[in-house]
Amino acid sequence: MCGIIGYSGGENALPILLDGLKALEYRGYDSAGVAVICKNAVRVVKTRGKLESLTQKLKESDFKGSVHCGIGHTRWATHGEPSDLNSHPHGTGCVCIVHNGIIENYASLKSELIGRGAVFSSDTDTEAAALLIDDLYRKCGDPVLSLIKASDRLVGSYAIAAVFRDFPGKVYAMRRDSPLIVALSDKGSFIASDIPAFLKYTNRYIRLDEGEIAVISENGAEFFDREKAPVKKRCETAAWTLEEAEKGGYAHFMLKEIHEEPYAVSQTVGPRVSDDGMPLMGIDELSDEKLAGLQRIHIVACGTAMHAGLVGKNVIEKLAALPTDVEISSEFRYKDPILFEGDLVIVISQSGETADTLGALRLAKSKGAYTLAIVNVIGSSIAREADGVIYTYAGPEIAVASTKAYTVQMSALYMFAIRLAYAKGKLSQKEAKDMTHELLYEIPKAIEKALALEEKCAHIAKKYVNSKDIFFIGRGLDYAMCLEASLKLKEISYIHCEAYAAGEMKHGTISLIEDGVPVFALATSERLLKKTLNNVLEVRSRGASIILAVREGFEADGEICDDVLYVPAVSELFMPFPVSVLLQLIAYHFSLCKGNDVDKPRNLAKSVTVE
Ligand code: G6P
Repeated sequence: MCGIIGYSGGENALPILLDGLKALEYRGYDSAGVAVICKNAVRVVKTRGKLESLTQKLKESDFKGSVHCGIGHTRWATHGEPSDLNSHPHGTGCVCIVHNGIIENYASLKSELIGRGAVFSSDTDTEAAALLIDDLYRKCGDPVLSLIKASDRLVGSYAIAAVFRDFPGKVYAMRRDSPLIVALSDKGSFIASDIPAFLKYTNRYIRLDEGEIAVISENGAEFFDREKAPVKKRCETAAWTLEEAEKGGYAHFMLKEIHEEPYAVSQTVGPRVSDDGMPLMGIDELSDEKLAGLQRIHIVACGTAMHAGLVGKNVIEKLAALPTDVEISSEFRYKDPILFEGDLVIVISQSGETADTLGALRLAKSKGAYTLAIVNVIGSSIAREADGVIYTYAGPEIAVASTKAYTVQMSALYMFAIRLAYAKGKLSQKEAKDMTHELLYEIPKAIEKALALEEKCAHIAKKYVNSKDIFFIGRGLDYAMCLEASLKLKEISYIHCEAYAAGEMKHGTISLIEDGVPVFALATSERLLKKTLNNVLEVRSRGASIILAVREGFEADGEICDDVLYVPAVSELFMPFPVSVLLQLIAYHFSLCKGNDVDKPRNLAKSVTVE
């Protein structure tokens, strides 16, 4: 995720900006840059790569002497691949900004500004915001006013820090749906996206609220509302160590990332919804006409990404009635897959670097298939080589066990399925819009509600933590959820787990059930409820302890289970979202109870670049 630092004070700004960026490195980034005001000009140095490259470039530049005010940024690419030109800051000789978030209407802003003579030099959404602010500033000559006016025009999420050539000792900032903090010290004032950026210098900070403008200078900070009226703010004290601050106060990155899911879903879906509420693919080869002509889909991925694919298969088949296979990449790439004209191959990968998935993608391309990648890392190998890409804007995932990346992969697949079903005439426009609305607005809320059930999840984990074997059973979409729940739990708790289609247990696996073996039964579909409960009885009568997860509103008979989890209700097809959050929290608490290294489970790697 991108990181922002801004400084104004009596010290030399450059080392302070670099220190701030260093402290934000843990968020993951692919490029970095700074802008300072020096001799009546905004000076920018930026580069693709790590901070070492930026430091080197600064040494080589004619950037000498001490400057006292500036902004810095670590970029994690969203629009435009990692490159020197796409790195932040962006702007003109007069105004320069750094930005976290996504400007959803950047394309229309860009053409409007080009029409007025603006010259763009990058592929980023940020540059549209920078040149808009520059345009507005030239008209009013007032930095605060130009930011307020810009916020009326910007659609999407942003935390922006800006410097204006004509106001050399000041850094200006504003935010919407993306955090920004002002910090105060004896050595000057700071603006940052995250507490670690200034923790070396001060722990006194003020949170900027939605729509507010902050101005920092050597003498402190001022705040304004949208009418440009001054706002009084309360100063807080961060009692965190640097390590705690990096995790945003959460005990582990995994927990932090689970809590980021509501935001990650809106970031992934929001930019792909048209003004009238339809999902947009934004890829020419996936026009409605092309989608309508598809005959078959193959989803190929590894691990958790493959499990997101299984959910996608269910949803695509249900909504668009199009046959969809899901294949493990390492199998697909060596089996001489049968691909026909009119087949689409979707590869899913958080990192975009998984060797087997890359191999599968290359094979599919060599056989003439159109390939679509669902990827979280911009400019990664899979993103570059696929014919089309849908990026999931989850921000970097640091914990090895994948959580938020899984959720956004599902979101992208739901959007794809809805558009496909509409293109094939299986959904009316109204139905497609209603579903897209639910995905964008109701799902983040349902995930929030699921997050509020953490205590119950912790209780279940504590109760069953000494189990040697754990089973997950369910039908349909619930079975797909079981597979991921089982993988997550074994990955980080090191307990042996199995996921079974509920109706399949009696064909062999039920012989493993004995007194006290925990069986998680997922039953969120009304149509399949009775069938799954029958399977629950089969294992319960053989001694299993049952943890039943049912959709809120379903009656759970206390006789049939030892523990019950009522999953926040959304439409049946969307239940995987709140269900998976609960199962992730349960896995997290098992690992915690066992005293394992939650974020770095033994023997596992985040990105598997060997086959
Ligand atoms: C590794 C990770 C998993 C991940 C899988 C696929 O096994 O530990 O969490 O799901 O790779 O990774 P990808 O980056 O392709 O999604």
